[in-house]
Amino acid sequence: MRILHLSDTHVRRTDGPDRHGVDATDSLRLILRELRHLRDVDVVVVTGDLADDGSVEAYTTVRELIGDFARSLDAPVLYTTGNHDERDAFAKVLGSGHAEAVLEFPGAERAAVSVLGGLRFVTLDSLVPGKVYGRLEAGQLQWLREVLSTPAEHGTVLAFHHPPISLGVSATQQVFGLRDPGALAEVIRGSDVRVLLTGHFHLQLCGFLAEVPVWVTPGVVNRIDLTTAPGTERAVRGASASLVELGGAGGPMFHTFHARDPRAHETVYQLDEERTRELIERHG
Ligand SMILES: [Fe+2]
Repeated sequence: MRILHLSDTHVRRTDGPDRHGVDATDSLRLILRELRHLRDVDVVVVTGDLADDGSVEAYTTVRELIGDFARSLDAPVLYTTGNHDERDAFAKVLGSGHAEAVLEFPGAERAAVSVLGGLRFVTLDSLVPGKVYGRLEAGQLQWLREVLSTPAEHGTVLAFHHPPISLGVSATQQVFGLRDPGALAEVIRGSDVRVLLTGHFHLQLCGFLAEVPVWVTPGVVNRIDLTTAPGTERAVRGASASLVELGGAGGPMFHTFHARDPRAHETVYQLDEERTRELIERHG
């Protein structure tokens, strides 16, 4: 089973560069063009922050661009929400995020289940409206517990936006990731979950939660560069994506693709210690 994992497209209502000079739709087109030689992809998973402004127009653009690409691979697409997303606009264009869900979460959150080639894909909704950090509320965790109580033929893949792991060298990751990862760990421990696919941090990172591998795919819109001084943050140009291969003795395996961009690594924005501290105080 091969999964093409995209995240953080941050597409906006209108084309053209944002205040940092980045055109998110162009970034998405660029990485998809780079991936045109990919073959044997079974599913495309997109883990949130699809729309930067939560607009119906942005979701429509994302659905068209990623949908066309996935059709050329004959692969379905599964979408989750992120902190920038807006549940009603998301649902209007993408429904539950699954074209053929076998189960949908009955509450406001956009969580759903699909089964593809014997593998169960569960998307969760870690969006907390108005907040940068994420959380999985008790109702969604209880629903997940019930879903996982019956093992799937080839196990389960969980996909959602906010990583339940963070890297000690990043000041923002520790505040803006998934709150209370222990509650999720308790639900998945001993279950058939084989991998957790997440985004949000705009860089690649691998770790574990309850002995299950956690993958953070780099963003499509830009990349967070952790070579900056402690307590500061820099984003640079560079659209990326991941290939996740399950199965075989070595799986799950994670590979990242980086689009060829003559302006790759150019600074998009840079926050000094004070601005980073302000950001954490305001949104943490
Ligand atoms: Fe995010």
